[in-house]
Amino acid sequence: MKSDPDKCLYYDIDPARIPRHVAIIMDGNGRWAKQRFKNRVTGHEKGSETVRAIVEISRQLGIQVLTLYAFSTENWGRPGSEVSALMSLLKKFIKSERLSLHEKGIRLGIIGQKHRLPRDVQNELDITMDYTSGNRDMLLNLALSYGGREEITRAVRSIARDVMEGKILWDDISEELISAHLYTANQPEPDMIIRTSGEMRLSNFLLWQAGYAEIFFTKTLWPDFTEQEFASMVKEYQDRDRRFGKVVCSSNDGSPQ
Ligand code: IPE
Ligand code: IPE
Ligand code: MG
Repeated sequence: MKSDPDKCLYYDIDPARIPRHVAIIMDGNGRWAKQRFKNRVTGHEKGSETVRAIVEISRQLGIQVLTLYAFSTENWGRPGSEVSALMSLLKKFIKSERLSLHEKGIRLGIIGQKHRLPRDVQNELDITMDYTSGNRDMLLNLALSYGGREEITRAVRSIARDVMEGKILWDDISEELISAHLYTANQPEPDMIIRTSGEMRLSNFLLWQAGYAEIFFTKTLWPDFTEQEFASMVKEYQDRDRRFGKVVCSSNDGSPQ
């Protein structure tokens, strides 16, 4: 949670105005591989190296929550061979990063339908989440079998059940209550959403939470995305004027003058 002053100075980033939550749609692995006449899985493997680098710089900058969109509810519709390759890559990654995440003070979390993941992947995730549960420097959320619509549907169902069972009144249903029923309950809303690979859509990512996020698109394919480009986006974030529907702002923290 604490920024490394040297890193901030190096990238000309103000350590007092670091985004609390950055969420990334890591896209373009397949195209990266295609450009090199390799199979798509090679792109996913290369993409996992970018994950390491971006997790590290995020922690150094003092970002509290980093959410990475790794597998969407729609991605189950890809060929079985690609889905299995992604799942084994995920398992390998979680296992190999466990110690290093812990040493860096990073806590692992998941948003999405964990129960739909293969049993062995769930086990590795559970072990790593347990192992890192006491860490406070950064929360790394992996969005796995995640879909914004599924998340909202699930929240509506759970709220409806609470009303039916008389735990809450229908009048108690508020924006805060809905937020509290999402996978991201108790987390700050994303300040920045980044999508690589040139596509300009959210693809079912954090639909509710994205309400006031600053959105960044880059043509860079995920395997080519670097710490430098990430830092330059954080810098640009600090230069943007976040008005939150109000009139004048002195800084990007949303406080009106
Ligand atoms: C992102 O890369 C990774 C996942 C969606 C799992 P893609 O696999 O979507 O790569 P492109 O978009 O086909 O290049
Ligand atoms: C979004 O990328 C999902 C992830 C990055 C995990 P996709 O490649 O699946 O999305 P579309 O098909 O371009 O919308
Ligand atoms: Mg894609």
